[in-house]
Amino acid sequence: MADTTRTATLTIDGQSFDLPIYSPTAGPDVIDITKLYGKAGVFTHDPGFTSTSACESSITFIDGEKGELLHRGYPIDQLAEKSHYLEVCYLLLYGELPSAAELEKFEHTITHHTMIHEQMHNFFRGFRRDAHPMATMVGVVGAMSAFYHDSTDINDERQREIASHRLIAKMPTIAAMAYKYSIGQPFVYPRNDLDYASNFLRMCFAVPAQEYVVDPVLSRAMDRIFTLHADHEQNASTSTVRLASSSGANPFACIAAGIACLWGPAHGGANQACLEMLKEIGTPDRIPEFIARAKDKNDPFRLMGFGHRVYKNFDPRATVMKQSADEVLDLLGVENNPLLQIAKELERIAVQDPYFVEKKLFPNVDFYSGIILEAMGFPTSMFTPIFAVSRTVGWISQWKEQLADPAMKIGRPRQLYTGETLRDYVEIENR
Ligand code: CMC
Repeated sequence: MADTTRTATLTIDGQSFDLPIYSPTAGPDVIDITKLYGKAGVFTHDPGFTSTSACESSITFIDGEKGELLHRGYPIDQLAEKSHYLEVCYLLLYGELPSAAELEKFEHTITHHTMIHEQMHNFFRGFRRDAHPMATMVGVVGAMSAFYHDSTDINDERQREIASHRLIAKMPTIAAMAYKYSIGQPFVYPRNDLDYASNFLRMCFAVPAQEYVVDPVLSRAMDRIFTLHADHEQNASTSTVRLASSSGANPFACIAAGIACLWGPAHGGANQACLEMLKEIGTPDRIPEFIARAKDKNDPFRLMGFGHRVYKNFDPRATVMKQSADEVLDLLGVENNPLLQIAKELERIAVQDPYFVEKKLFPNVDFYSGIILEAMGFPTSMFTPIFAVSRTVGWISQWKEQLADPAMKIGRPRQLYTGETLRDYVEIENR
């Protein structure tokens, strides 16, 4: 945090209060209001945190006007093209790109922690077969704190490190097991000779009766999906993880809270909702009908995969995802995929429509990801679990950063109370 020489002055009923201004390395200046209540006796009001910085962070930066996403300063399009998921994980966790030796060691550590405690298999079996894999993941990841007692002490740096590695390593195994359980197939154990993305594909699609060979192009596409979702600064699920962690909760409980938040259709659940919407549209001639519904104030329907709190120009992840969709469908020999055609036509019409232009609504990362995942063979219910696998490193990196921050306090928002004031209890016979 830099410059503290500038102040903002707030005047309330003729009385002035000076508030420090901080200048970040990038992005808008920030006014520090932490002492405002103590000095002026007022709260600030910002439901949805549209103008509020909740923490100091040096992990990820987004410039919503430019459509820029940087991880530790590196742009997402360069990382998606030249790097790979585990290298990006290292970058997010430790702040710098790894040397060859550091990367090898990190990959070895993650690869050798992908198996889960065998007793956890029983835990899966407690769920109904038709449970959504996200429901299973919230439960199983939360339950990790009941299995890995040696990495729940948040005050021990080594335990924090072990918990980070365990979560990144085991999350694909847990997601794949949730899927296998839902379709009644046996769990597939991870293999140490496969890379992170190939291992995940194999755990999802292999069956004991037949050899499964991972297509390197699909594995690359999977890796790119993981990379594009790895972190996104203080989004709803990350803020949930930080808030849960601020009370001193253990890492597995915090990440389970993040998964629960991610599930909602306004956040990570949008990828499933988007593909279901494209299927419901069915044919390009029905697009105007859905656009009209999205614009109708009396209809709760929204174009899923459109709009973003921060991006007001374009989502750089969507650009890479759209390109990937073309590549993957091409590889799979899926010519003229009807969903991709509808998606492209929907985008073409929407981005010219004054409603979407004025409100700065563009396709986001979830608009094209579902098409790729479906082409790979994933059911829609697995889209958000895949997002959760990818985002685990972001949650963990932000969690570690928060715990190392000397300014960390329990998160405790205040409120604008509009309820009844003090009144006497009324006996039941008098109501
Ligand atoms: N379709 C139609 N209208 C929309 C849409 C949409 N997808 N998104 C926003 N609007 C309108 C909204 O009705 C509002 O209009 P008005 O000003 O007249 O009331 C205006 O645009 C601003 O919307 P908002 O809800 O106040 O904006 P927000 O920043 O609170 O919400 C959002 C952002 C992503 C939740 C929202 O755009 C949305 O619901 N999009 C669809 C769901 C989606 O694709 N989510 C994935 C986000 S990216 C991945 C992730 O975060 O996990």
